[in-house]
Amino acid sequence: MGMGKGYGKTILFGEHFVVYGLPAIASALGTSTIAKVKVVEGKGWEVDDNRPATPGYKKQKYDEAMQSIKNVIEHLKIDTGTQKLEIEFAGDLYAASGVGASAAQCTSLARALNDTFDLNLNDEKINEAAYEGERAYHGTPSGIDNTASTYGGLIWFVKNLSGGKNTMDLLKSPKKFPLVIGNTGLTASTTEVVADVRKLKEESPEKFDKIFKDYEALAKEAKEVLLAGSVEKIGKLMNQNHELLQQITVSGEVNDKLVKIALENGAKGAKMTGTGRGGLVIAIAENEEIQEKIAKAIEKEGHDAWRTMIG
Ligand code: MEV
Repeated sequence: MGMGKGYGKTILFGEHFVVYGLPAIASALGTSTIAKVKVVEGKGWEVDDNRPATPGYKKQKYDEAMQSIKNVIEHLKIDTGTQKLEIEFAGDLYAASGVGASAAQCTSLARALNDTFDLNLNDEKINEAAYEGERAYHGTPSGIDNTASTYGGLIWFVKNLSGGKNTMDLLKSPKKFPLVIGNTGLTASTTEVVADVRKLKEESPEKFDKIFKDYEALAKEAKEVLLAGSVEKIGKLMNQNHELLQQITVSGEVNDKLVKIALENGAKGAKMTGTGRGGLVIAIAENEEIQEKIAKAIEKEGHDAWRTMIG
């Protein structure tokens, strides 16, 4: 039997913009998906998905999940004609839209297959296999989710739009920051939301040019303030990033409501994270006491809230 792990992630800055070659900053979460692979007699593969999840998430993502598993198995050229794979997914990463659950699933599977079949893959190869899996979830993944899931830590990521190597720098922040992740409980399709943004961009190129320029300047500043460890400034930039995401129509009503609650309860900054139109919001706090206050306020409104550290 082989085993593998894939971290969850949160995008601190740059979801959607990253698809167009603008920089994004992601942080791996402390929680992860664990895959186990057992080889038995027979052929094909079957999956036992025991990940904790937002109600409805697994059902909604079922077809994409099956296709992504197939992609990873085929990419790694694992023979399923003369042997059968029993695959189990578990771990403490809550499967929800926005925490990189799909990428964590692909990465953990690639690592578990690597372990089971002694493939000797380095992280770069694991990341490539996970990317193939991610393609089942959305047509044009930037690769940021599988990269954070594979390497962990804080990552500055720029997609190479010509198909060459993506830029990926591991950032070292002098501090760790308490973060709250609030769950809207709604799951949107990344493929659909990314496609919608593309359509809007084609319809209003000038408006998008301006937003993209504003975002690019914001991302560069965000890298500096993260490296300097200023929670005050990180928060301010998160708020500005949220506004830009509203402008490209990917935030939703519940996202905006949770952002407002977080700010009213002491967050230095808050924004939606990931695909949007549901999914998750993140809020940064200067200490764990305020983190707890924000999380409790979100829970009081009937939404899950997770406490984690980033940096
Ligand atoms: C999804 O977690 C992040 C998006 O930017 C899509 C992508 O990067 O592939 C919306």
